[in-house]
Amino acid sequence: MLIRRPHDIPSSEITPEDSYLNRREFIRKTAALGAGMAIAGAGLTAAATATAGGPQDKWRPKSPGPYDTDEELTPYTDITSYNNFYEFGIDKGDPAANSGSFKPSPWKVEVAGEAKKTGLIDLEDLLKPHTPVDRIYRHRCVEGWSMVIPWLGIPLADVLNRFGPTSKARYVHFTTVLRPEEMPGQKRSVLAWPYVEGLRMDEAMNPLTLLATGIYGKSLLNQNGAPLRLVVPWKYGFKSIKSIVKINFIGTQPKTTWELSAPGEYGFYSNVNPEVDHPRWSQARERRIGEFFKRKTLMFNGYGEQVASMYSGMDLRKNF
Ligand code: MTE
Repeated sequence: MLIRRPHDIPSSEITPEDSYLNRREFIRKTAALGAGMAIAGAGLTAAATATAGGPQDKWRPKSPGPYDTDEELTPYTDITSYNNFYEFGIDKGDPAANSGSFKPSPWKVEVAGEAKKTGLIDLEDLLKPHTPVDRIYRHRCVEGWSMVIPWLGIPLADVLNRFGPTSKARYVHFTTVLRPEEMPGQKRSVLAWPYVEGLRMDEAMNPLTLLATGIYGKSLLNQNGAPLRLVVPWKYGFKSIKSIVKINFIGTQPKTTWELSAPGEYGFYSNVNPEVDHPRWSQARERRIGEFFKRKTLMFNGYGEQVASMYSGMDLRKNF
């Protein structure tokens, strides 16, 4: 995700995201090492330092999900402080720093378009018939970093089915709230506001797709897309639209925010695909936040068994 377009910046000026992350991780690890050594010197044990963490220390999934990964979870502090949410600014720390005045409650969602039931619904009523589940998913950003996040949410299909989408509903279009007074980034024309995203109907109905309300069993913080966001773990993170106020069943493939912003770089499908590079960087590897060395990126972010059949016969280089 970049603000300045490629034609605005000479390539000599671009710091690849991974070198930037590399530096950040290096600084973090060495700082941690320094702190650890100081504590060891003071005669304390390493265990004494581990209690300073967040809700992850006590957290266990209530009901393990069928597609959960058993990889190490990303600490809550990283998930809530290293964010992309351009409505609050373009730097990774901006969403946590600038979202304090955002009001995620009360909240209404408009359900519209090709469905038997449509209208404005209170968030509580949207969620009430469902029991939220814990789902531990890999989260891969198009910029080359990744996390493992224990989401709390409801399978999107369960929610959508209640509205009775008709046979004309071939796509679902999502819209983020527009509140420039609470979201300072919306006062700048970095992107076309409000942020919009879309999924094909079968993608929206896939059991992996979640409407998330929390992380580590706690309600979403503003920087993570409170009170309601999408999670589509086999796609790059930008498909996972935050702070949703509208769900629209439509017949034709919609344009999405990043596609509108840079059509040569971001397509509608945006499936994680290590074989198709971003025009300006490779997608073959990724850096898991908290780790120093890069790892290989997996096709469909490792969820091929659950999703590959939806794209059989499609040229994924063209439909990137
Ligand atoms: N949704 C909105 N409304 N605005 C955004 O800027 N950023 C996207 C996505 N959803 C974004 C958004 C991107 S690029 C990513 S990687 C994920 O949110 C980041 O989610 P996280 O901050 O919870 O990791």
